[in-house]
Amino acid sequence: MRCRKCRQKAVINMRQHRLALCRDHYVEWFQQQTARTIKKYKMIRRDEPVLVAVSGGKDSLALWDVLLELGYRADGFYLRLGIDEGIGYSDESYAKIKQFVAQHPGTRLHVVDVKETYGETIPEVARRVRRGRGKPCSVCGLIKRHEMNRVAYELGYPVLATGHNLDDEAAVLFSNTLNWQVGYLARQYPVLPGREGFARKVKPFCRFYERETAAYALLRGIDYMYEECPFSVGANTIYYKELLNTLERERPGAKLHFYLSFLRAKEKEGLFADWEEPSVELHACERCGQPTSAPGRCAFCRLWPEDVLEQPHESFVPLTLVEGA
Ligand code: AMP
Ligand code: FES
Ligand code: ZN
Ligand code: ZN
Repeated sequence: MRCRKCRQKAVINMRQHRLALCRDHYVEWFQQQTARTIKKYKMIRRDEPVLVAVSGGKDSLALWDVLLELGYRADGFYLRLGIDEGIGYSDESYAKIKQFVAQHPGTRLHVVDVKETYGETIPEVARRVRRGRGKPCSVCGLIKRHEMNRVAYELGYPVLATGHNLDDEAAVLFSNTLNWQVGYLARQYPVLPGREGFARKVKPFCRFYERETAAYALLRGIDYMYEECPFSVGANTIYYKELLNTLERERPGAKLHFYLSFLRAKEKEGLFADWEEPSVELHACERCGQPTSAPGRCAFCRLWPEDVLEQPHESFVPLTLVEGA
């Protein structure tokens, strides 16, 4: 197999794009595709600083790398969850992120440690509040969302980028369609506009197959966390990803087509455009100020005992700043 551009030996063959490329042309293609997605969906302006949510996995570290290569002022945010299960999941992930920072001089990483800030790790909170049938994933999702919003706001980042790829987005779309979750379908899009005090949320890798982001990380020498979170075993999204992979094997490109035709139907045919959010009254949480429909405090603030949240506000911003050498 030869590279379509230079006829050297190809390192990757993408059947879905009918495209084989050598190492250098693949890296170039990948960065250009990201730039195209950012432009098409008006994700990030040139003068805006971006906060990249990094988990230590291939997608988010590859995203940070590409944004830096494209010349954006991109800083990282990592939430230490305190998951020791498996092979010490959180510690390993953090080690990979610190290694990335050390290899990228001038980059900044903001870290929030859930236990140091709120007194308990994610599995500990989940056990105390008994949510999610023994799995901490729903509590974890709630805490991640809240802390990403909070940190972007408090540090003044207008844009928050996550590493969600096509496999993630297609699996969510599949699940939302199977259950006809109209509200979720109406909102699912590569960019969510910012609201009062909230950063815009963008997914610049939404058109890349997981295999493509893995290849990019590998070819760029990015050492990432291979293991998934130990609690993700048996998750619905993994099952949907497998189903879509079966379809993809038979019909290369099916996954991309499924997701892109959904986006096109929204853009060109106004799919879900008339859908109106049922009128739930949103107001600012009386403790943290984030929007919530619950009376009084938001779901995040209701997770914690009173004394934890009564400390002076400054203690909730223990952001460690690690600068690349
Ligand atoms: P996941 O929900 O684990 O598939 O992660 C989706 C995206 O959320 C990743 O690509 C990251 O951008 C972000 N993310 C996941 N875990 C963390 C974390 N612990 N800290 C910061 N960002 C994260
Ligand atoms: Fe949050 Fe697995 S429970 S990443
Ligand atoms: Zn080439
Ligand atoms: Zn709150």
